[in-house]
Amino acid sequence: MPLDNRQLLCREGLRDLLVLDLAVDRDFVSAATAAEIVLWNLVREPGTPSVVVEQLVAEASLDTQTLLALETEADRLILFAGDRSLADLGEGGVGRALREKMERARAERRQPLSHAGPLPSLPPRIISGERFLVTGLLAQGGQGLIFAAVDRELGRAVALKFLRVEGLEIDRNDPFQSMWAPADRDRNQSRVDAFLEEARRTSRLAHPGILDVYELGVTPGDIPFYVMPLVDGPTLGQAVHERYITPLEGLRALGQVAEALAYAHHDHALVHGDVNPDNLILDEFGSVYVLDWGAARYTGSPVDGQDALGSLGYVAPEVLEGTCGVQPSADVFALGVLLFELLTGSRAFPGNTPEAYTQALQANLPISSLLPVPAADERLSDLCNRCLSLDPARRPRDAGEFAATLQAALAGRRRE
Ligand SMILES: Nc1ncnc2c1ncn2[C@@H]1O[C@H](COP(=O)(O)OP(=O)(O)OP(=O)(O)O)[C@@H](O)[C@H]1O
Ligand SMILES: [Mg+2]
Repeated sequence: MPLDNRQLLCREGLRDLLVLDLAVDRDFVSAATAAEIVLWNLVREPGTPSVVVEQLVAEASLDTQTLLALETEADRLILFAGDRSLADLGEGGVGRALREKMERARAERRQPLSHAGPLPSLPPRIISGERFLVTGLLAQGGQGLIFAAVDRELGRAVALKFLRVEGLEIDRNDPFQSMWAPADRDRNQSRVDAFLEEARRTSRLAHPGILDVYELGVTPGDIPFYVMPLVDGPTLGQAVHERYITPLEGLRALGQVAEALAYAHHDHALVHGDVNPDNLILDEFGSVYVLDWGAARYTGSPVDGQDALGSLGYVAPEVLEGTCGVQPSADVFALGVLLFELLTGSRAFPGNTPEAYTQALQANLPISSLLPVPAADERLSDLCNRCLSLDPARRPRDAGEFAATLQAALAGRRRE
């Protein structure tokens, strides 16, 4: 079915039919059977919920992984159907026509899923400490330890991120010598799996605002780690705090961040889930990178567990309350908090405990009254207000809309 019809289906809210259509495309079910499913659903009692997906699963013996892949693909198309395309994402760099051409080429290249479902990943291979000469500990985050190192095979500086969990003492001088405490390795299997997924997911994100993953491996002691470019610069938090950048440079950096998130939202139906100043890092060329995709979740998936909760001060209220599935609007809320911080120099919703943060959110102050610069640029304070709305439906739809609005405001400033 051509994309236009799909877009129509999305607009009608018929996501199930889109999933069915994709299943026909991929030969999971014949067009005749799909037509029967549609007919059956048309003649059912008015007001009863659609059972299209249930019937599809039964008819095509779909496993849950394949169904999830189809639904993710449908959600991705729905995101595109909001009459937005990569070409709309911003003015910078590549020309509109070229972007459109590349987007079409990519759509044509999209491979049908194999009947066996997505290929299972190979387990990461053992990489010894001989290859990487660790030169120092860069940071200790909640989920990982980050080291600077030299890759002796290629002779370049890299950063290594090691899994960090309770029961695993990583040796700060030589992480390759670290060992699991007995019995802790198996107890932490789900954390290990989540870490491997973080590396694989990040490696699929090919955007100038997101770091490559060079390697994924385990130490001889079975501790997972991945290798990425070493960014020799401050995080956005440090850069603003230490005044390495001006507020205007900060706003431009935020535009780049939004472009990278827009790419994840549009091309991968992936929501970062933990956008905050420590997860954004700047290099000496003025590029900014979105780090730490450990909390990222596919659009529409349920908010599951603590890892998906993001950071206090930046997490969207509906995520904190667990009242909805994962949506790009959660990242837009965090972008709004960052924008507020750049405009005012203070936190939109202070609070170091969940209770204090929730209270700050509920206070629901008219943000414009807090911004000392609305007169300087009403478009920026208006964007900030919309992003920080407690109701996700009132925020910009996704990071692409945020980026476009911010860039238009900044372009306007240049002209004035
Ligand atoms: N490639 C890199 N180059 C330089 N520094 C890095 C790199 N990756 C991460 N860092 C530093 O390490 C810090 C923590 O990284 P990251 O957020 O990936 O870890 P984490 O354990 O998942 O964090 P969190 O505490 O948010 O869970 C970053 O704030 C940044 O200062
Ligand atoms: Mg982090």
